[in-house]
Amino acid sequence: MKVLEEKILVEGRALNENVLKVDSFINHKVDPKLMHEIGKEFAEHFKDQGITKIVTIESSGIAPALMTAYEMNVPMVILKKQPSKVLNDDLYQTLVSSFTKGTSYELTLSSHQISEADHVLIIDDFLANGEAATGALRLLRKAHATTAGVGALIEKSFQPGREKLEAQGVHVYSLARISRLGKGVIEFVQE
Ligand code: G4P
Ligand code: NA
Ligand code: NA
Repeated sequence: MKVLEEKILVEGRALNENVLKVDSFINHKVDPKLMHEIGKEFAEHFKDQGITKIVTIESSGIAPALMTAYEMNVPMVILKKQPSKVLNDDLYQTLVSSFTKGTSYELTLSSHQISEADHVLIIDDFLANGEAATGALRLLRKAHATTAGVGALIEKSFQPGREKLEAQGVHVYSLARISRLGKGVIEFVQE
């Protein structure tokens, strides 16, 4: 997506070979018009697939997921991160480990919000190692829902997230695919 790539080049900052800071339009301050364009792009790509809900992971996935849900005229469900196990019969839970941040959390979904009748699109800001998306897929399987795919704003293609998801038969659609980062260097996959 051209406008997102241009925004990344102008306002993104590569800290090192692994981390891209996008605090001025995604992770801290949020650009609503850009999020709306992103929502329209995901809605167009995933149209006519019978999607009933958009699922995202708190917190940075919420803005683009909401815009996508608005454009597709379906609800958005936010998967919550809880620090420790809260035992509750109505909650599906799965442990997710983050390599980038070196932390782990219980990703949770209430059984009241997603059912076997749902066909879900997962939206998140970054696709890095694919752990968050894989955890989301585990929760959706517990809910007996099906998944249309994973939409990411920024894919770090030099990390294994896409391969991990595709190996599970999941369709991945990323709006900006980064092939290389370095101090002051941001390169996109040539398509
Ligand atoms: P994975 O889900 O693909 O395996 O990613 P990973 O565990 O490596 O990433 C953990 C957190 O770090 C996620 O945010 C993810 O969005 C974020 N992240 C990964 N790579 C980058 C990067 O290059 N730049 C930025 N800005 N963030 C990155 P989170 O902890 O879930 O938090 P939130 O921002 O959604 O609240
Ligand atoms: Na995120
Ligand atoms: Na993030």
